[in-house]
Amino acid sequence: MCVFYRNNNEELSVDGMSLGAIAKQYGSPLYVYSAAGITDAFTRFQNAVAPVNGKVYFAMKANSALGVLALIGKLGGGMDIVSAGELARAIAAGIKPSDVVFSGVGKTNDEIRQALACNIGQINAESQAEVAAISAIAKEMDLLAPVALRVNVDVSPSTHAKISTGERNTKFGISTNQREACDIYQQMAKDPHISPAGLAVHIGSQIRDLAPFERAYSALLALAIELRNAGWPVPNLDLGGGVGIDYDTAGPTDFKEYGLLVQRLFAGQGFNLGFEPGRAIIANNGALITQVIYVKQGGDKRFIIVDAAMNDLLRPTLYEAHHAIWPLDKPGISTSKADIVGPVCETGDYLGLDRDMPNLSAGDGLAILSAGAYGAAMASNYNSRSPAAEVMVVDGAAHLLRAARPIADYINDEMIPNYTDIPE
Ligand code: LLP
Repeated sequence: MCVFYRNNNEELSVDGMSLGAIAKQYGSPLYVYSAAGITDAFTRFQNAVAPVNGKVYFAMKANSALGVLALIGKLGGGMDIVSAGELARAIAAGIKPSDVVFSGVGKTNDEIRQALACNIGQINAESQAEVAAISAIAKEMDLLAPVALRVNVDVSPSTHAKISTGERNTKFGISTNQREACDIYQQMAKDPHISPAGLAVHIGSQIRDLAPFERAYSALLALAIELRNAGWPVPNLDLGGGVGIDYDTAGPTDFKEYGLLVQRLFAGQGFNLGFEPGRAIIANNGALITQVIYVKQGGDKRFIIVDAAMNDLLRPTLYEAHHAIWPLDKPGISTSKADIVGPVCETGDYLGLDRDMPNLSAGDGLAILSAGAYGAAMASNYNSRSPAAEVMVVDGAAHLLRAARPIADYINDEMIPNYTDIPE
């Protein structure tokens, strides 16, 4: 059952709290997360990969609020990061650097140095040039860098093109065709400044079919066994993230089949396994709460103009993503279709198109579901709007995770050059 449900008064609620009441206290737009829902999803994912001793590294690009990271850390999660900024967040949330995996195609020398300086668990390198850079920095720092190779196994995940990473012509990983990955791994294993940590793969996001995972994991396993048989150490296999969720029902994701696939392929093979789920842990455990500002008719269309916008939740317009949108109070019967749009000055600023909606008027609340992943994390200051604050409901009480940053703070960060020499 969805973590967001109607209570006896038919108010949309989470963990015994009405979302309308939370929004009244903290204002809107507002992200609201459920600690119980995140705990449930994370624990079920962990249990699904426990038979193969899988370690779970939450992909914090999905949601990097410290309050979310600290909860996942408490549940035994490590972190998958992609920048020095995310490394700083992991450390600030109390995650041990040895429980952090550093992914990404373009790590700078400075980022590599920071990662090695704090004894990061593993760096997943994505090119020969990156391996060389890590080796040079490790030499200069006089330490041994734990490096795994992210390989590109040329598998299409059948998902949105912008979040598909597994095919040959994407920027990700080192190709397993033409034996490039095999050659680079062997060179790396001989490097005196590198401790070869294994292989990694990640083929994309929002993958709802197990077949692409099976193809990618089988290719990874074959390469790992080949390298090991040739005498090179391949301790870890990082199987990435990508498990998709149900955006229609916003219900919990079942990880059993995924776990069984992983067991079938990897049980008894002697590799340590890592996983990097992001979306599947948090998307359906967060909602963006918004309030109607105006309702208007434009041509044949009903527009419900709300106080959340594309700067708060970019997914609908960037990926044509569908998020269920539910009224907070007892919904009347649907009167007609409506576009739910924000105040940003772009036609692309919408949260939902052509939705069956009841009569709504100014002040009514709506919840945009499945917004826990890649929602707040991708928010921006566009139109000089302060992105929505974030709240976590823990044991029936709401806790502020992040306040909306006042616009004055953004303005205070800026400087105006001295224009006195420019004639008016
Ligand atoms: N590991 C790596 C190396 C990744 O690049 C990603 C996501 C993940 C793990 C986590 O994938 P997940 O389990 O969340 O599917 N902004 C897009 C999604 C971008 C995903 C990028 N990489 C969206 O809103 O759909």
